[in-house]
Amino acid sequence: MSLETEIARRRTFGIISHPDAGKTTLTEKLLLFGGAIQEAGAVKSNKIKKGATSDFMEIERQRGISVATSVLAFEYNDIKVNILDTPGHKDFAEDTFRTLTAVDSVIVVIDVAKGVEEQTEKLVEVCRMRNIPIIVFINKLDREGKDAFDLLDEIEQKLKLKITPLSFPIGMGYEFKGIFNIWEKNVNIFTGDSKKDIEDTVEITDLADQKLNKLVGDTAADTLREEIELVQGIYPEFNKVDYLKGEQQPVFFGSALNNFGVRELLDCFVQIAPTPRPKQSEERIVKPDETKFSGFVFKIHANMDPNHRNRLAFIKIGSGEFKRNTPYLHVRNKKKMKFSSPNAFFAERKEIVDISYPGDIVGIQDTGNFKIGDSLTEGEILNYKGVPSFSPEHFRYINNADPLKSKQLYKGIDQLMDEGVAQLFTLNLNGRKVIGTVGVLQYEVIQYRLEHEYGAKCSYENLNVHKACWVEPEDEKNSEFEEFKRVKQRFLAKDKQDQLVFLADSMFTLQMTQQKFPTIKFHFTSEFS
Ligand code: G4P
Repeated sequence: MSLETEIARRRTFGIISHPDAGKTTLTEKLLLFGGAIQEAGAVKSNKIKKGATSDFMEIERQRGISVATSVLAFEYNDIKVNILDTPGHKDFAEDTFRTLTAVDSVIVVIDVAKGVEEQTEKLVEVCRMRNIPIIVFINKLDREGKDAFDLLDEIEQKLKLKITPLSFPIGMGYEFKGIFNIWEKNVNIFTGDSKKDIEDTVEITDLADQKLNKLVGDTAADTLREEIELVQGIYPEFNKVDYLKGEQQPVFFGSALNNFGVRELLDCFVQIAPTPRPKQSEERIVKPDETKFSGFVFKIHANMDPNHRNRLAFIKIGSGEFKRNTPYLHVRNKKKMKFSSPNAFFAERKEIVDISYPGDIVGIQDTGNFKIGDSLTEGEILNYKGVPSFSPEHFRYINNADPLKSKQLYKGIDQLMDEGVAQLFTLNLNGRKVIGTVGVLQYEVIQYRLEHEYGAKCSYENLNVHKACWVEPEDEKNSEFEEFKRVKQRFLAKDKQDQLVFLADSMFTLQMTQQKFPTIKFHFTSEFS
């Protein structure tokens, strides 16, 4: 098949949700449809269980398992679907943000009873910033939940999306009778009380058709007619161009657990979801159909087994064909590298591939050459953009607890930061090192890994920082910037890319600083140009 054909049949996306909304269950059902797994329960092991929050060894063990499920690929109607797994645990939210740089679209799962939750808001905000096409799946319709219209309002307001329903529930919870598929113009009817199976899919091109009354009863049929009229009155018609631009988001209703509305979601997804999209590099926009290969590292996974301390770097192919045993330029290191055993991922296994195409993810064994964000090309100097750091939530000084092992400690910190476990800031004033994390759990993870993988010991000391702000002066040479650096000397640090960061101890300090130095911009993310 030609490069164009391969690109045209690829859909690479991520499923995001607040923990427990049903991401794992939906993933599993999609894999079942794709024939990638044979039974339910196969991807469950990837999930970091509730209650495991204080047991980070358990979490690490599960992270180990999750290498296999980092990318879940399957074929459906001749479309190659790549699902990039995102960790549900909020302490690993940074991982999820980074994975979003490698997806071409997302499906957002929302629990019908809980509505829009905190984690969803944050993740959708990142998608909106990047104009990533979004499909919303409202899950658990077999349970009592919020009124469909209230929920759609909530989604529009909290997630700031412009939605349009492509399916609509007929009743809910105990009264749940089925789903009217606006996209396909048919009705799925549930069976009996258990609501475990779809009894029938009946085509209803005209809602006035009395067939509907026979299927769901007079009351439910009339309610549905009224509701669909309302839907058509309130919401715009689905427009694929707007969806692809990230300006309109279709909504589906269903129940992942009961496999309701999942096939409809998948059928629509493969039709409308984007093929691999062009991506911005610092130098130029890179198009997938360019013949020369390029790609970037969006995730690094360390092997937790101390006997095999290698890492796996995940590379998203951005353009051209990636071939095994072919020399490629590691742009940051200015070194040519060849890869003898690149892995492709499937639901339950990974295998060596000879050739991969845009949209695909390959895993490369790495002994410490790669950092998140690194680019590989056939020779061009190209630095893919878009693996930003976000301000961490927690900040602690890291101290060396074993003076004889300082070399090991610094090497360990360096490598763990390259993997994106946490962020390192070095204070300008005295060179002290500060570790910033999204969740407190990472401190334990770092301490454990430094000890077991690098033979180094560390201790932490609290540091009162509200937010890390990347500093962008209007003019590096003006007196205001000089004054800022003098006054705030104690709170200035460099991140790993040597960018200047202001560690503000409170929202109030930040506001005061902004007022006092109006020509300086403060950003909560490292990528602002
Ligand atoms: P997550 O990955 O988003 O965190 O959620 P996950 O799929 O693990 O689902 C969270 C819980 O919600 C699970 O129950 C799952 O069975 C349930 N669930 C998912 N989809 C539906 C649905 O459509 N209807 C109903 N009623 N429940 C649903 P659990 O008891 O926490 O886990 P398990 O013991 O079933 O694995």
